[in-house]
Amino acid sequence: MGAYFCREVLVFIFALAIVSYTGVAQDTAATLVPAIITFGDSAVDIGNNDYLPTIFKADYPPYGRDFANQKATGRFCNGKLATDITADTLGFTTYPPAYLSPQASGKNLLIGANFASAASGFDDKTAFLSHAIPLTQQLAYYKEYQSKLAAVAGSTKAASIIKEALYLVSFGSSDFVQNYYVNPYLNKFYTPDQYGSYLVDIYQSFIKDLYNLGARRIGVTSLPPLGCLPATRTLFGFHEPGCVSRINTDAQGFNKKINSATKQLEKQLPDLKIAVFDIFKPLYDVIASPSTNGFVEATRGCCGTGRIELTSLLCNPKSIGTCSNATEYVFWDSVHPSEAANQILADSLLIEGINLIS
Ligand SMILES: *[C@@H]1O[C@H](CO)[C@@H](O)[C@H](O)[C@H]1NC(C)=O
Repeated sequence: MGAYFCREVLVFIFALAIVSYTGVAQDTAATLVPAIITFGDSAVDIGNNDYLPTIFKADYPPYGRDFANQKATGRFCNGKLATDITADTLGFTTYPPAYLSPQASGKNLLIGANFASAASGFDDKTAFLSHAIPLTQQLAYYKEYQSKLAAVAGSTKAASIIKEALYLVSFGSSDFVQNYYVNPYLNKFYTPDQYGSYLVDIYQSFIKDLYNLGARRIGVTSLPPLGCLPATRTLFGFHEPGCVSRINTDAQGFNKKINSATKQLEKQLPDLKIAVFDIFKPLYDVIASPSTNGFVEATRGCCGTGRIELTSLLCNPKSIGTCSNATEYVFWDSVHPSEAANQILADSLLIEGINLIS
């Protein structure tokens, strides 16, 4: 299949690049970028929320059940996130630690850190509602990380890690789904378009902050087709059989804004490599024709169908009817893609992000 063929070719290109980049094929140096630094929400949280008093946690079964040790890590998935798969492809054999975890210390910090927190957003108020780590605090932690890194690596090496690292930014879904659409103080006074502009203004200044702190390679995810999430179908899709088109239209409007804001940033900030990863289209295509992509079910989550009532939106050990094989499902729970769907997203991330690492 096309996507798979592409991936093989890209992996091969990466392998060549790794050899020329590191000179010696040493295990510890065999990564295409020295570090990965991640900011965002549940799409990229690998366990920070485990250490917070929030209900948005994934540190219990059946989360993580398709890992070899079947351990729930805090990832909102049965297995790997798209960004985990990307890290694998870039040659990482261990992942940069969740910043709030005990592992985030000493030499472990040399390969980066993850500051993401489920239910966080561009809008700090989104995170306040759920006791998640707001974007401004994720940035504050990153500054703290920089000084810890300098202490471990020395300031010259730390500066080069910071400059060569790949930065991943993934916010926005929680701003709309967990804040805007359900918060009358927002949706009565602002149109989705106005709220999107508000978020994109925050995005622009966030990227400028990262740039001023030394970041030069940044990948940003677009919004997924939010109207196709099992949760939004249940909550907002009463009159439609398929995806909630109004919500998908809002997501596409937001994606246009973040794309043009990114083009401006690229012009304004010398030496910055920045790319928007479009996750709308690849996910929408899979949902529109699951069987051609090897899936059986695209309308409900494997765990926590989201069909009956609000409480059943969440996946937990008692969720009734959890499917036996998540590989056949596009969605693992009522909001998050399965590892199998994440593989497809990671394939397209790689293609869209190749300029960041060349
Ligand atoms: C799960 O489903 C996938 C895709 O249909 C299939 O390849 C795999 O063999 C299944 N696994 C099990 C344990 O049935």
